[in-house]
Amino acid sequence: MSAEEDLIDYSDEELETTKAPASTAAATNGAAKKGDVAATKAADKAKGSYVGVSSTSFRDFLLKAELIRAITDCGFEHPSEVQQQCIPQALLNVDVLCQAKSGLGKTAVFVLTTLHQLEPVPGECSVLVMCHTRELAYQIRNEYARFSKYLPDVKTAVFYGGVHISKDIEVLKNKETFPNIIVGTPGRLNALVRDKHLSLRNIKAFVLDECDKMLDQIDMRRDVQEIFRATPTEKQVMMFSATLSKEIRPICKKFMRNPLEIYADADDTRLTLHGLLQYYIKLSEAEKNRKLNSLLDTLEFNQVIIFVKSTKRATELDKLLRECNFPSLAVHSDLTQEERIKRFKEFKEFGKRICVATDIFGRGIDVERINLAINYDLPIDADSYLHRVGRAGRFGTKGLSISFVASEEDEKVLSEVEKRFDAKVPEYPKEGIDSSTYMG
Ligand SMILES: Nc1ncnc2c1ncn2[C@@H]1O[C@H](COP(=O)(O)OP(=O)(O)OP(=O)(O)O)[C@@H](O)[C@H]1O
Ligand SMILES: [Mg+2]
Repeated sequence: MSAEEDLIDYSDEELETTKAPASTAAATNGAAKKGDVAATKAADKAKGSYVGVSSTSFRDFLLKAELIRAITDCGFEHPSEVQQQCIPQALLNVDVLCQAKSGLGKTAVFVLTTLHQLEPVPGECSVLVMCHTRELAYQIRNEYARFSKYLPDVKTAVFYGGVHISKDIEVLKNKETFPNIIVGTPGRLNALVRDKHLSLRNIKAFVLDECDKMLDQIDMRRDVQEIFRATPTEKQVMMFSATLSKEIRPICKKFMRNPLEIYADADDTRLTLHGLLQYYIKLSEAEKNRKLNSLLDTLEFNQVIIFVKSTKRATELDKLLRECNFPSLAVHSDLTQEERIKRFKEFKEFGKRICVATDIFGRGIDVERINLAINYDLPIDADSYLHRVGRAGRFGTKGLSISFVASEEDEKVLSEVEKRFDAKVPEYPKEGIDSSTYMG
């Protein structure tokens, strides 16, 4: 791995991000008009439910039969609101800039759209998806695998840093394994393109997941731009995140032509996850371990994710929990990449019930059984808070989040969260809470 690649690997230490409230604007372009009406109707119908599902069916999107079969196998019954808003227009090849709540199915928007449009040509890569962490890239690739189950000609691959590049080069050299769809992180992809192991001249769809994060970090943005320049002008560009500040939107749009823009409205509390109960606990730094211990002892949960602010704290806290006989593991950047993925899989497959993580797992990571998210250390801004607590209560299921507030700084972040998402985060009641309010 080159030194340069190291630079752009997502760091899980605290990072500055752009902060701004989401606006209510939702502009569409001419090409998108037709689907627009349908999207508005779908959104109207969906109001009032957690998930925003309606009687609309995936069949209404007129997707390939092989995709419909895979969707049925996955147990998806109805498209979520964001899927209804985006998929019909994305299928018309319109560029898409989409902000929608955590856990409501943004991944399937681009996975289904690109798989439907793809006519796989052996030796040609048509779809490129990038995201900010290796584990998320791995997860998205698995989503492609799940939905392309009945499309045997479609080949996918995932490329990210931290593992030997020669393996990636081998995949690209071999006709049998050369992918039609590539998911990856920008550093490794840029290295492959720069050294001419990978040509992007046949790219038809260019997707950025967690786009605000990717374009907010200078190093990552530079890589994304270089990769973008290696793709043809004629292509569809789609970008997604649960948070899209006003500052980042014009930067995203520089990559697009007349995109369909979908923003969740802050003043409508549309970013609030209605199934998620949120509380804070005020304490001193020294009280955190004891409090955490008693919470884990008394609360019912299926799986819990505990966020800390540094790799060192992740290691220490995980050690402490294991010493107290809690089934815990830690994930952070101070591990080999193989180990990171191994632990991620173990947690996802319910091998352990407790995961101590840095912000590496703060965004995008989807583990169905997590119904409790604890901010042992509060994040540094409201956007990170929103992404983190969104790990619990996926796809409209119930969940609980508890945030430790231990300093004036923390108090500021918490009040920023309340303002930004127009939600009251109450103090965790002394007597605890009834598990039926956040379980099942
Ligand atoms: N229509 C659907 N019906 C049932 N489950 C769905 C549907 N769409 C998505 N899901 C499931 O919901 C979960 C969350 O989806 P996904 O990870 O795409 O959310 P997201 O919008 O990308 O969230 P985040 O902002 O946190 O990344 C996944 O487990 C996915 O399989
Ligand atoms: Mg996502």
